[in-house]
Amino acid sequence: MRHSSLAGGESEVIEEKFLVKVFRYDPSRDKKPRYETYMVPAFSNLTVLDALIYIYENYTNLAFRSSCAGGLYGMTVCNQCRVKVNGKSCLACKTMATKNMIIDPLDKRKIIRDLTIEM
Ligand code: FES
Repeated sequence: MRHSSLAGGESEVIEEKFLVKVFRYDPSRDKKPRYETYMVPAFSNLTVLDALIYIYENYTNLAFRSSCAGGLYGMTVCNQCRVKVNGKSCLACKTMATKNMIIDPLDKRKIIRDLTIEM
């Protein structure tokens, strides 16, 4: 099976699925935050941002930010996709997805919804 990724070109499915646990919280509706787990096809060059986009397109209206797709097409790197993966801050568009990753918003910022925080 082939797939087009944000990184450009085609990639190939190397395993069946990745389990991705994502922080979910809408302060206007939820009493407290929670995690939800999604299955994402494991493509050979799948980034964290690709996984978030897959979740958005196939499961739910997950909120996250991205603008430049990792500086593709000569754009300046926007830094808007920054999240925590397994506790470490990273750019989602530059970080490869891994099995059983846990994605959180950055610490110490007011959460707008899910992975989006006040800038
Ligand atoms: S989307 Fe711009 S740095 Fe990741």
